[in-house]
Amino acid sequence: MTTAKKRIVSGMRPTGALHLGNLHGALQNWINMQETYDCYFFIADWHALTSDYEDPGNIENYTRNMMIDWLAAGLSPEKCVLFVQSRVREHAELFLLLSMITPVPWLERNPTYKEQIDQLENRDLSTFGFLGYPVLQAADIIIYKADGVPVGVDQAPHIELTREIARRFNHLYGRVFPEPDTVLTETSKILGIDRRKMSKSYNNAIFLSDPPETIRKKVARMITDPQRIKRTDPGDPSVCNVFTFHGFYSPPELVTEIDSACRNAEIGCVECKKKMAGHLIEFLAPVRERIEYYRTHTDQVEQIMAAGSDRAREVAGRTLAEVRGAIKI
Ligand code: TRP
Ligand code: SF4
Repeated sequence: MTTAKKRIVSGMRPTGALHLGNLHGALQNWINMQETYDCYFFIADWHALTSDYEDPGNIENYTRNMMIDWLAAGLSPEKCVLFVQSRVREHAELFLLLSMITPVPWLERNPTYKEQIDQLENRDLSTFGFLGYPVLQAADIIIYKADGVPVGVDQAPHIELTREIARRFNHLYGRVFPEPDTVLTETSKILGIDRRKMSKSYNNAIFLSDPPETIRKKVARMITDPQRIKRTDPGDPSVCNVFTFHGFYSPPELVTEIDSACRNAEIGCVECKKKMAGHLIEFLAPVRERIEYYRTHTDQVEQIMAAGSDRAREVAGRTLAEVRGAIKI
């Protein structure tokens, strides 16, 4: 008998097109994991509603586009279960049951809760749903009896809460849930074109779906080594984000060449950027081609989301039967 694969569960909120930071962070990690683990990846559209409840008009579109980005980047419905949270209503039932046993102070103490309320000051986040965000997240995870949850470090407190909620459930009603491990995703070394963290809301991102002309323009605007002012100044590639990009997208010989040419002021930043943009465009070409394909074949995307959600629902349903049995209600 072969030992069962460990089960991995993770989700993303549909907040818009995916960029290179997402690709080299969470997404590439997922793509690698689908080869070795029993993976459940979903689009957390209910979670998007916790902050966008006043204006939910984009969520459906973003959900489909996110699935398209996933597929184009290399997640395979043959290798993992790809689904949409709101299509598996069982998450909501478990959320309700977990909310009965989750002390409110655990949620008020949650660091991301206060942070987000301060950050998104133009929105009223004093809702019950927003406070309960991590309870829904716990339901998402333990409904599949996940062994591990790949997330960025910002999400680690939520996985810790998930373990605490699972432990409390088991203590009260008997052991149903394993306590999942946090599998930390390394943050991507790719920065935005302004050298801040790449983020859609900073307007500094390069998207997987950007056409070549857009990529050239964005790369031309990238901030390089801030100490290098004149073309005749020697540069330091180790502090230059363009050089980091070269490392990801250009052939190794070129990377070595640029490294020395930059240090000796033998290449200008304009030319250096042009070379990099060319390789980045080449790298993204097949991804963008698949994005175009799925955008014109949305019936296939719909079918993948429906089939994945059916598979997820089956597993979630079995867990809920156990849960109802344990609580005897
Ligand atoms: N809260 C996560 C984020 O904002 C998204 C998410 C929802 C999630 N449910 C999850 C991640 C379950 C991992 C597991 O990124
Ligand atoms: Fe960066 Fe290239 Fe300019 Fe050097 S030459 S500072 S690596 S953009």
